[in-house]
Amino acid sequence: MSPSPLFKVFLATLVLLAKSNTLEEEEKVNMLVILPKDNSYMFSIDRVKPAIEYALRSIKEDDSLLPDIRFDVAYQNSDCGNMALFNLVDTAVLMQKPDVIFGPVCEYAAAAVARLASHWNIPVISAGALAMGFTHKAEEYSHLTRVSPAYSKMGEMFLAMFKYHQWERATLLYSDDILERNCYFTVEGVHQGFKDEGYTMTIQNFDETKHVDADEIVRSIKSKEERVVIMCASSDTVRNIMLAAHRQGMTNCEYVFFNIELFNSSTYGNGSWKRGDKHDLEAKQAYASLQTVTLLRSVKPEFENFSIEVKSSVQKLALSDGDYVNMFVEGFHDAIILYAFALHEILSKGFSKKDGMKLVHQMWNRTYEGIAGPVSIDANGDRYGDFSVIAMTNPEAGTQEVIGDYYGLQGRFEMRPNVKLPWGHGKLKIDYPKPDQGNTCKSCGLGESAVTGIVVGAFLGTGLLMTFYFFRKKYRITIERRNRQDDIGKHRQLREDSIRSHFSAA
Ligand SMILES: *[C@@H]1O[C@H](CO)[C@@H](O)[C@H](O)[C@H]1NC(C)=O
Ligand SMILES: *[C@@H]1O[C@H](CO)[C@@H](O)[C@H](O)[C@H]1NC(C)=O
Ligand SMILES: *[C@@H]1O[C@H](CO)[C@@H](O)[C@H](O)[C@H]1NC(C)=O
Ligand SMILES: *[C@@H]1O[C@H](CO)[C@@H](O)[C@H](O)[C@H]1NC(C)=O
Repeated sequence: MSPSPLFKVFLATLVLLAKSNTLEEEEKVNMLVILPKDNSYMFSIDRVKPAIEYALRSIKEDDSLLPDIRFDVAYQNSDCGNMALFNLVDTAVLMQKPDVIFGPVCEYAAAAVARLASHWNIPVISAGALAMGFTHKAEEYSHLTRVSPAYSKMGEMFLAMFKYHQWERATLLYSDDILERNCYFTVEGVHQGFKDEGYTMTIQNFDETKHVDADEIVRSIKSKEERVVIMCASSDTVRNIMLAAHRQGMTNCEYVFFNIELFNSSTYGNGSWKRGDKHDLEAKQAYASLQTVTLLRSVKPEFENFSIEVKSSVQKLALSDGDYVNMFVEGFHDAIILYAFALHEILSKGFSKKDGMKLVHQMWNRTYEGIAGPVSIDANGDRYGDFSVIAMTNPEAGTQEVIGDYYGLQGRFEMRPNVKLPWGHGKLKIDYPKPDQGNTCKSCGLGESAVTGIVVGAFLGTGLLMTFYFFRKKYRITIERRNRQDDIGKHRQLREDSIRSHFSAA
């Protein structure tokens, strides 16, 4: 005999009541994810969302972690500027302040959000905000945790590599777009590391949005008698510079070129010289002198699953091809996991989700298992960085592979055994021209004019250094100035103002 319909309804109501009761008992954590809506960013909301959902699912599946917590995730557009701050404030005013913020990635967006969140005692965890400035946690960025290796960590890598090869100095060559300034901030991280250790740097920049005269740039590097060139630019510009260097006879092992390509793994590696144009052969030869610095990739079985899932979710949205699973996507997954660990630990110590500073410090100075491998956060709340160097190991085929790695936690740089290095084996020796012995070095053909060249070069270098410093000050000034304004309505104007002043600085 089946139960009557009325009894069924009664049962169903009971079940519903029971459910809503447990819902009230569960504590709710409001997460705010602030990332760009624009899918041309590798870390847009659509691209990162599947990783966040994956992380939340794995937290839910772990009964011992946070069984009584419900996560409420809101997504807001950060754009790549002040929109992030506006949306954070709007969310707080119209609804409530979030318990934790994930993002923003873009430097200018992250600066404002991290400052306000620190003031509100809300933890901010980002897979971006990679600029040097965010290292200063004492006051304005006290609540910021960075789960991706910042540019200054990459600076440590270059430093370790320079010590290994016993190189003395370098030229930093970068493209500055004045807007988001990714290469500027990247190179700033390297510059800081070298400066702290007293290495000499020459700095040179150009604007890729205008015509870039690669031959002129290479001539200027040559005239300054530099031997190691560290570049940050688009892959096409890097290729043009390498072609120019090849034409000017600088690809015969006397010079070393570095290309920084941290995020877009499809641009580095095999065939990055190849374009299917008439320069391919020369480019292949030139790239024998080029090494690429990138993130060290580690893989474990769980990563495969994650990668497949993220990829299929993103493909459903028919976004343009590219790296579906990149450092940012991975990083936000690991950010959620880190927050869950910290929350679990402080709750069990009797604190609450509102104890922002406690939560933040619980996340720092620890190593935990991320989706692709162990993640180590230093005592200042910044992730240690592991990086790899890629070089051409087969000049005939033009194929490249990883030749060396840097382990940030240990601060160790080592070459991989069993790879055929373009320069033979061991250290890459560089014969730095000695200015005081210049006249005796016949093979260099140095004469009177070369000495002038060196003096002019040194002068130019100082000029560029000053420009660089000026830029840095400018960045700080605009940010500080924006900070002082409490009136939110004025921010848009200030942002425009800061763009204008950057343009005039260029
Ligand atoms: C990655 O690099 C490739 C090749 O240069 C380019 O086509 C693609 O747009 C880049 N993707 C992103 C997300 O920057
Ligand atoms: C390049 O290709 C070779 C052979 O096809 C492969 O062994 C190597 O791992 C590749 N390197 C990279 C960086 O993809
Ligand atoms: C991948 O996910 C599926 C379910 O979606 C699960 O059955 C499988 O065990 C997972 N594999 C790994 C290696 O975690
Ligand atoms: C970081 O943790 C280690 C132990 O894991 C401890 O010895 C050290 O004092 C901690 N450092 C800071 C700055 O808290």
